[in-house]
Amino acid sequence: MAFIDHIVLNGLLVISAVTAIQLKFDDALTAQRGLGWPHSLQVTVGHEALMKLAINLENQESCEVVTPTGVMFNIASPPNDRFELWEGGCSLKVKKIEPNDTGRWRLTAKGDNTKIMGWTALHVREDTPTPSPPTITLPDGENEVKVDLSTEDNSYCLVAKPFSDSALVPGHCTVTLDRTTRAVQGKWDVLLGVPGKVSEVPLKRQVVVEAERLDFGYIHESSTNKLHLYCNILHSEKNITFCRFQRTSLPYGFNVVDGLSDGSHSYYGKGFLRRECGITIEKPSLDDSGTWRCTVGLKMWVGNQVREQPPMQALISVAASSRISRFYNDSADNKSNTVFVQENRMLTVSCRADASLKYCWFQHPNGSQFTPVQLVNEEQPFWYTGEGLAAGQCGITFRHVTHQESGLWRCHMGRKGQFGVEVTEDIQVRVTGALAANKKEVAASKGGTLTLYCHTANGNRPLDYCRFLSPSFVGINIDSSVTKENAILDRFFFTPGRSIDAGDCSLTIVNIQEDDIGNWTCAAVVNDEATESSDTIRVYLSTKPAPRYQAGVIGASVGAAVLILILVGFVLYKRGFIMLPLRRDQNNPPPSDAFSLQRMSTVTSTSRSSQSSSEFGQDLGPKRA
Ligand SMILES: *[C@@H]1O[C@H](CO)[C@@H](O)[C@H](O)[C@H]1NC(C)=O
Ligand SMILES: *[C@@H]1O[C@H](CO)[C@@H](O)[C@H](O)[C@H]1NC(C)=O
Ligand SMILES: *[C@@H]1O[C@H](CO)[C@@H](O)[C@H](O)[C@H]1NC(C)=O
Ligand SMILES: *[C@@H]1O[C@H](CO)[C@@H](O)[C@H](O)[C@H]1NC(C)=O
Ligand SMILES: *[C@@H]1O[C@H](CO)[C@@H](O)[C@H](O)[C@H]1NC(C)=O
Ligand SMILES: *[C@@H]1O[C@H](CO)[C@@H](O)[C@H](O)[C@H]1NC(C)=O
Repeated sequence: MAFIDHIVLNGLLVISAVTAIQLKFDDALTAQRGLGWPHSLQVTVGHEALMKLAINLENQESCEVVTPTGVMFNIASPPNDRFELWEGGCSLKVKKIEPNDTGRWRLTAKGDNTKIMGWTALHVREDTPTPSPPTITLPDGENEVKVDLSTEDNSYCLVAKPFSDSALVPGHCTVTLDRTTRAVQGKWDVLLGVPGKVSEVPLKRQVVVEAERLDFGYIHESSTNKLHLYCNILHSEKNITFCRFQRTSLPYGFNVVDGLSDGSHSYYGKGFLRRECGITIEKPSLDDSGTWRCTVGLKMWVGNQVREQPPMQALISVAASSRISRFYNDSADNKSNTVFVQENRMLTVSCRADASLKYCWFQHPNGSQFTPVQLVNEEQPFWYTGEGLAAGQCGITFRHVTHQESGLWRCHMGRKGQFGVEVTEDIQVRVTGALAANKKEVAASKGGTLTLYCHTANGNRPLDYCRFLSPSFVGINIDSSVTKENAILDRFFFTPGRSIDAGDCSLTIVNIQEDDIGNWTCAAVVNDEATESSDTIRVYLSTKPAPRYQAGVIGASVGAAVLILILVGFVLYKRGFIMLPLRRDQNNPPPSDAFSLQRMSTVTSTSRSSQSSSEFGQDLGPKRA
């Protein structure tokens, strides 16, 4: 009380002084502002404004109000019911605030020949319903991301993210996320504390987290007979450096540049600047249906330098439409499905699909499962190899291979955007020496012809020489210069079309005789190996007279496996589970084998012709990812 008295006293002193000079200096009133409480007040339309003089006159006789428009009244007899006394002393309550209430409200208290005055500046805020705010899009996987939740000048906010606790943010409503992930997606509930309003303003913000990705697909414009393929980059800051399209079955592609055309192939899209990459093919032919690969080159700012980034790829399956009537011919499947690998070397097992993959994994011959992961360190026992799942490629490389890895591997592929049974592919792995026989057992018939074929493991490596040892211990030194015309002993020559430079050690025997039945050895020094490598092949007498071909154990089993797979595939396809043909390809092209190739391509073409029905085209139908 003593304190208040002191203020009152001071106030009186000040006021009396001011009263004396009031007539001379109009702006002396500003000195009185200090007695108006609050000095400044924000009120939303429809709310109430409360104001008073900060001190009370002990013997107050009157309390007068001057509105911003100059209307003067005594609070004891207000002109209408919007105004009333708020507290004791000299105070005012204004109800149902309207926009024209903005301005200075003056209060004057009189009593005992003294007068105290003060004013309050009132700012009326429109009660605009917050327009539904736009969706907030955040880049995926970024650190320290600032999210602005409100544009209002709120004094605090309460933010509830999905699946997490609420957080009170003082001042401007901004939250910083340590890392953006899809877990923060959804509706964020925000409560804002805004000036001029007692109740908090609720706000819902939709937050989506978008990863950089390719939007790919194709459009066949039948009216103009044009085929448009596109691969556009979404949610990225990167710029396109090049744009390439390739039919996966062809060795060449198309370099597509905005504004460039060769008459039949031209750029499609809104420009590289808009991060659009596409190709238009005029009058597409049968050859243009099938699987296309698009590759988009990218660059971005790293610090203050522009750096090339790994390209993004996708596979687009173009169905044969009525105009592009039949399904395509694919002769790319011209590879045997056996991998030959030398012990302790790296083993790569791979497979591919005609569509982008979401994931893939491998089943080891002993039943264990391996999912390829990115290579990050030197000690890692296995890792992913290939051009990326988006390009439909799956491969796994093991650092050290042992004999345990011999056997039938199965690759399982989960396609992007398509749920159902995984596509599988079988790969035979043989862990051998540096030189390995393609078939360990070969059937022969007297007077017939056969081929003994050995090849380097781990791909094509040149041989220093090639030799064979017959069951009757006749040694034969041979290379591709020995042909049918100059055959050794008129019966032994190097298999045409093969070469020791490509790692082939291959002997063709015509007019087979009794002496040829038994164990043969092929041997060679493989380039950069210290010792000679060899393998044996058992030639046995076939009970069938002069077979047209010799079925090797592996060839037959692979052939049968492929046939079963295709039958299963066909059944599943008929039931609508499988949409695409199986394809086989190796990173390590294994030695090809005349017989099994022929078998495989026969089987393959059977399956192809079933795929070429129009039904199949529908199954492949237009896809937009
Ligand atoms: C203020 O505006 C209201 C309508 O919004 C009107 O009825 C009232 O007369 C106005 N008051 C003055 C003082 O102009
Ligand atoms: C990408 O293009 C935009 C517009 O031309 C440019 O401002 C930006 O610097 C470019 N970024 C890179 C990495 O080239
Ligand atoms: C498919 O290939 C075969 C042989 O390679 C050929 O005879 C046939 O005409 C081709 N079909 C089409 C539609 O290109
Ligand atoms: C398969 O490959 C062999 C040799 O690499 C080649 O001669 C043959 O033409 C190919 N077959 C097909 C159908 O492409
Ligand atoms: C299968 O082989 C892998 C690799 O050699 C090995 O790590 C795993 O333990 C084996 N699993 C079984 C069940 O033998
Ligand atoms: C041929 O080799 C096999 C093993 O590869 C062996 O079991 C068989 O006894 C051999 N035959 C002859 C005649 O040496």
